[in-house]
Amino acid sequence: MKVFVTGKLSQKAFDALQNFAQVDAYESDDPMPREEVEARLEGKDALVCILGDKIDAELFKKRPQLKLVANVAVGYDNINVSDANDAGVLITNTPGVLDNATADLAFALLLAAARRIVEADTYVRRGEWKGWKRELMLGAELNGKTLGIVGMGRIGKAVAKRARAFGLNIIYTRKADDKKTDDELKKTFDAKRVSLHDLCKQADFISINCPLREETRHLIGKAEFALTQPHCVLVNTSRGAVIDEEALVEALEQGKIASCGLDVFEREPNVPERLMKMPNVVLAPHIGSATKETRAAMDELAVKGLLEAFSGKLPANAVNPDVWKKFSARK
Ligand code: GLV
Repeated sequence: MKVFVTGKLSQKAFDALQNFAQVDAYESDDPMPREEVEARLEGKDALVCILGDKIDAELFKKRPQLKLVANVAVGYDNINVSDANDAGVLITNTPGVLDNATADLAFALLLAAARRIVEADTYVRRGEWKGWKRELMLGAELNGKTLGIVGMGRIGKAVAKRARAFGLNIIYTRKADDKKTDDELKKTFDAKRVSLHDLCKQADFISINCPLREETRHLIGKAEFALTQPHCVLVNTSRGAVIDEEALVEALEQGKIASCGLDVFEREPNVPERLMKMPNVVLAPHIGSATKETRAAMDELAVKGLLEAFSGKLPANAVNPDVWKKFSARK
């Protein structure tokens, strides 16, 4: 069988893939132009791709031999799953292995924004530091405050674990109505489930950790920023479009929140000029899972799922397991 990879895999993952299939891989670590993906996919049975690659019906139509797409990311909003179902294409993602790295980054951004680390760094480098001052770079303390976690899944829980060590009280929202999970979260983190409305009103800090779906697009917008406290610090390590970016910029300009730390944006890699100019905003280029350990684990999980699927075993990381029968018949 033949596989195309739209970038570089870690050696271990690449070797495992090559032992199993004929592998063609994009030579660069830069995002791959769509037309080139299409061209190189000719005659390939499977694709290993990243979150910048848009996968939809148009691609499936042009490349009918394609049977599996392994997305090396936990979020798969770059893939039209309904189109994949129609085409009988199995989709896999990389859940679980990036929870700690992403939660670490959420906390790095939260601390950086709350304690004004980037501003402070710039101040020192510019030679503006003249000595200790009582009111220099005063920020917000975490201990005893309330963190609102929007989306209490695997990554949300990893954020909660860190939050407890920082002395934060936790409130959260989650999609599924599930009393058992709420009870467990109460027991483990003393966390309380609330409505999004109450979370926005009560939280001193907010961390966005839900996936981007149709129902979470612009989940945080003008109406929510009308509820937030002016000292609130917002952090997003999920997907940019969960927040209405225009409303976020306005909220910052109008002091409806104090600051934010963003790893993700609505139109990556474009970052609004107005955000770039704000000293109270910490920006990162979508690096939530970017540790050596996690990136290797993501590659390995992606390859493992692909090998399993083509060996006749439904992988645990299949996003659309319902397509398994159709996939198996096409294999
Ligand atoms: C990264 O953003 C991911 O979804 O894995």
